[in-house]
Amino acid sequence: MRYTPHKPWQTPADGEAWFLRMRGFRETGAGLQLAIVDKASGKAIGLMLVFNFNEGTGSGEVGYTLAREHWGKGLAKEALKPFIEFCFKELGLKRLDAQIDPRNVASGKVLERLGFKHEGHQRRNHFAKDEISDTGLYGLLVDDPRP
Ligand SMILES: CC(C)(COP(=O)(O)OP(=O)(O)OC[C@H]1O[C@@H](n2cnc3c(N)ncnc32)[C@H](O)[C@@H]1OP(=O)(O)O)[C@@H](O)C(=O)NCCC(=O)NCCS
Repeated sequence: MRYTPHKPWQTPADGEAWFLRMRGFRETGAGLQLAIVDKASGKAIGLMLVFNFNEGTGSGEVGYTLAREHWGKGLAKEALKPFIEFCFKELGLKRLDAQIDPRNVASGKVLERLGFKHEGHQRRNHFAKDEISDTGLYGLLVDDPRP
């Protein structure tokens, strides 16, 4: 959770609050969260979501998290690749945004490997968890080349 805006969950109630929020997203159409499931064990090992839709531009923002023991195996890219196509083809989006803490090097690489362009760097514009940080802005257009 180091570079995410959220604090780590401390109790099951924190997790429940998150899932209620995500259910609300789905019910109102404000967003959609999917679980990333390990095929071998059937266990949920992470999540990815699309939210912050802008009807005018046809855009949405993506977010993603893997459980720590599954980092470093290319799994975020593997999961996000079809999710991105889903966002473009099934949801009809024309642009995906992603915002990261620039210190989150792995996250930036994941985005670039998926074809996202680094579109900007905002300085000291984000406050979370008692810290002010910068924001790296990334974007992927529906007609951008994707590896
Ligand atoms: C960010 C995250 C999703 C990356 O997923 P992942 O599946 O572990 O990523 P990968 O294994 O494909 O690694 C991505 C790239 O970053 C590199 N990398 C990983 N950790 C790194 C580090 N600490 N410093 C520099 N490079 C790093 C990898 O070598 C890989 O490079 P490559 O594309 O050249 O092979 C995962 O670390 C995570 O869930 N982090 C916690 C939550 C989070 O930060 N979410 C994103 C919020 S914006």
